[in-house]
Amino acid sequence: MDIQHHAFSQLLLSRHSCRDFLPETVPESVIKKMIALARAAPSSANLQPGKFHALTGEPLGGFVKTLSDISANNPPEPASYSYFPQPMPGELKLRQREAGYALYGALNIQRRDITARKQQFAANYRFFDAPVGIVVTIDKEMGSGCFMDLGMFIMSFLMLAESTGYSSCVIGAFSHYGSAIHRLLSLSADEKVVCGIALGRANRQAPVNQFRTSRIALEDFATFQGFSDRETQ
Ligand SMILES: Cc1cc2nc3c(=O)[nH]c(=O)nc-3n(C[C@H](O)[C@H](O)[C@H](O)COP(=O)(O)O)c2cc1C
Repeated sequence: MDIQHHAFSQLLLSRHSCRDFLPETVPESVIKKMIALARAAPSSANLQPGKFHALTGEPLGGFVKTLSDISANNPPEPASYSYFPQPMPGELKLRQREAGYALYGALNIQRRDITARKQQFAANYRFFDAPVGIVVTIDKEMGSGCFMDLGMFIMSFLMLAESTGYSSCVIGAFSHYGSAIHRLLSLSADEKVVCGIALGRANRQAPVNQFRTSRIALEDFATFQGFSDRETQ
């Protein structure tokens, strides 16, 4: 059995973060089905934390315009959840740098070209001009373990999108303007913004969609004991 050639393995490998989209939108019936199906993801005690708020058309246009203005004219808020370890170990810094070089390299943006870098970063707050933008929230009282559940929900959604020919990009940068986004979408008081998801058909010709990120070697993140069939996997 060569799992590498399974349709699902191929789907996993074909997904990558897409940062340039075609204008074609995603039909409401399709996005509703994808979000409903993604709920099949497991969650601790079946709590099913997290909400998706999907925008397209005029509501999306208004949202990205205002969010772009806010992010261009206001410093980032302290994120409502922590992400990177402080200080960041060298090994992680290297991975972060490699991903950054790949992104900016694909766009031919030089390391010192701060203006061009800022312009690319600003595209986060336009959902990379995707035809659909999703704001992901979680109940602010949930414990940090619930981010595992939410991650599984999001990944299920990303894979469903991939399986139907759509592409996506998760946008953690939204957490820097969480309270502004909260206001803009009139979210309920118990919600906290976690991230955005850009969704649509990829512009496959766009330079920013040409690079692929690498992954660390299996032996660097997994150990195995007691297996006797190593050669047949
Ligand atoms: C939780 C999360 C937050 C992310 N935030 C951003 C972001 O704000 N901007 C961005 O361009 N990419 C963002 N990404 C995409 C990552 O940079 C990308 O997943 C990583 O470099 C691996 O590349 P790949 O998705 O193409 O395999 C995020 C991904 C995840 C899972």
